Amino acid sequence: MRVLVHIDDAELWRDALARRLPEAEVITSAAPESARRAADYLAVWKPPEWLLREPTALKGIVNLGAGVDALLNNPGLPSGVPIVKLRDAGMAELIGDYVRYAVLHFQRDFDRYRRQQAHAEWREHAVVDKADWPVGVLGLGAIGAKVASMVAADGFPVHGWSRSPKSLEAVTCHHGDAGLAALLARVRSLVLLLPDTPATRHIVNAETLSALPAGASLINPGRGTLVDEAALLEALGEGEREGRLRGAVLDAFPEEPLAAENPLWSHPRVWITPHMAGPTPLGAALDQVAEALRAFAAGEPIDTVDPAAGY
Ligand code: GLV
Repeated sequence: MRVLVHIDDAELWRDALARRLPEAEVITSAAPESARRAADYLAVWKPPEWLLREPTALKGIVNLGAGVDALLNNPGLPSGVPIVKLRDAGMAELIGDYVRYAVLHFQRDFDRYRRQQAHAEWREHAVVDKADWPVGVLGLGAIGAKVASMVAADGFPVHGWSRSPKSLEAVTCHHGDAGLAALLARVRSLVLLLPDTPATRHIVNAETLSALPAGASLINPGRGTLVDEAALLEALGEGEREGRLRGAVLDAFPEEPLAAENPLWSHPRVWITPHMAGPTPLGAALDQVAEALRAFAAGEPIDTVDPAAGY
């Protein structure tokens, strides 16, 4: 089998994959066009359109990330070719740490102390007990479920939401539209870990933001398209004084990098990170890629992406 790898540091991935899969010929997009055309499988992260169009007898694609939105929205994506995505592969733990940090940021008032420091203001805030700080996690896929469990293990009551019913230990699970309303009404921090699909786009909008308790905070290590930015800015209000929304910690944006002129950059109650919450760890990811390629090649059943659902 011939596998074409396309990602930043593709040579590193190529060599590591070749060691795991000695039966395969692993190439990168730097290989000659004739070799690229003959690729049986692609293992790719945000490939250019031409690269998806080239292979003449493609049998499968492995998405080297958890979110398949960029791949599914690529006009070069051939239809009918099965897609496998990474599931967790160590990303969930990293995202879990990001979320734990962000929840503590608000629960222990680090946001307030940071602003006070700018004015040399020495003022202590009473700590709200973790038990009184419910955290909502929208999206209970491989990543959302792990993150929800990690936050619950820290002692916060956690409410999870997914479109269809799920059950998780130590997490109160909600589903459907009514479940979303019930969750929003009670959480002090809202974490977004849904995939980007037509059904989830702008799930955080004026209506859902106003359903949150006053003073809630938003944490988005998921996808930028989940949030209606105008509604977010409106709910935040201006300046240092806390608005209806206390603050936001954002790692994902509809267009990345976030444009320099975007007002979120300079908002005093917004923390921005450059889509770093869950980098793909090479080792576990490569194990999954090798396993997927072997299953593809052996014609074994494999959990593929549903392009209509978008995940
Ligand atoms: C990163 O955003 C991923 O989807 O893996």
